Amino acid sequence: MTRKIEELYSKSTASMRHSFIRQILKVTKGVPGMISFAGGLPSPDTFPKALLADLFAEVIREEGDEVLQYGASDGDKVFKEVIKDFEEVPYLSDEELMITVGSTNAIYYFTRTLVDPGDIVVCEAPGFPGSLAAMEACGARMIGVEMDDLGMIPERLRQVLRKLTDTREPVKFIYVIPEFQNPTGKTMDLERRRQIIEVAMEFDLPILEDQPYRELRYSGKRIITLWELARTEFNDPKRVTIAKSFSKILGPGLRLGFAAGPPEIIGPMVKWAQKTTVSPDCATQRVTARFIEKGLMKEHISRIIEHYRPKRDAMLKALERYMPDGVTWTVPEGGMFIWVSLKEGVDTDKLFERAIEHQVAFIPGSKFYPHGMEKKNEMRLNFSYPGLDSIDEGIRRLAALLP
Ligand SMILES: Cc1ncc(COP(=O)(O)O)c(C=O)c1O
Repeated sequence: MTRKIEELYSKSTASMRHSFIRQILKVTKGVPGMISFAGGLPSPDTFPKALLADLFAEVIREEGDEVLQYGASDGDKVFKEVIKDFEEVPYLSDEELMITVGSTNAIYYFTRTLVDPGDIVVCEAPGFPGSLAAMEACGARMIGVEMDDLGMIPERLRQVLRKLTDTREPVKFIYVIPEFQNPTGKTMDLERRRQIIEVAMEFDLPILEDQPYRELRYSGKRIITLWELARTEFNDPKRVTIAKSFSKILGPGLRLGFAAGPPEIIGPMVKWAQKTTVSPDCATQRVTARFIEKGLMKEHISRIIEHYRPKRDAMLKALERYMPDGVTWTVPEGGMFIWVSLKEGVDTDKLFERAIEHQVAFIPGSKFYPHGMEKKNEMRLNFSYPGLDSIDEGIRRLAALLP
């Protein structure tokens, strides 16, 4: 090549932004003595390695001819049946369910199905940058809606949608993470879920419900998903599409998730998959199917919960012990994150540099907001990855840097 390859980049590649979070993780990874609350990773201690090793061997030996062949783009039929059973939705048709390469993949195909470049997606602010990036990859413009302790505020959502409707902006869908949200750890209660559905109905917009943490509940009662709520209480089965993932319960390296929604949405999503990933990994689907069929999943999830609950509690206790007055934080009922709000005027982007010098890491809150909506005095702390015995010391180091 004589000319620079970069000159040939598409406009979307040329304008692609670097992931700040990945850069932060690079700075903190493998540094001796560093206590990192920055990553969003599950603990490898929770991966069922021995069981999966046996099941992979078993599946390749017994079903190798089938699982090493090209598979169906909407996912393996056997696995789909197992999922319907496990999720207690036997009534779901095959056209309403699609297996995906992790839930990021589901989020991308959902967006690809509805969004042309310049269309708007309304999301929580703060929200999960990975999903926002997947949506932006389709050309979506993200508009954030303010949250309170129960997640996205319905009245604010209504105001935002009214304004966008008045100016004839092309809004395509509402994206929410109602349970143990990344990054805040907040959970919508039943009433809040109803209210969000009602606003979506008022403006006749679909909802994408992202639920990767649902199984990781350490306290409080399980709440019906927006997806089920819309189908049952609102008799509106096409309103909500749900994306779920095996990343946080079996391991993100398996890249396995699924989406359930109306055939009018799942159908085109499958067509996008045909053109790109062709199919999810066939062996992994059958392995996961066996994992569930053999009754291993429920027990495994209970074990993970017992692994994470003490970590959450240790972090909450340490925050209580060390944080100065004026600092507040969320008390998540599950998931992997605690969201800390510092006094007005504290800039966590700057604090991050000092924290690294003192061998403790977090992600500054500004990294979780749609462009232009950033707030400076917040941070996300992850409690799933660090060792239980390092949490107290990490929070002590962090608190010592605060005014
Ligand atoms: C809210 C949220 N959605 C989606 C994902 C992506 O998960 P997956 O590994 O299934 O693509 C994550 C991962 O951290 C997440 O936090």
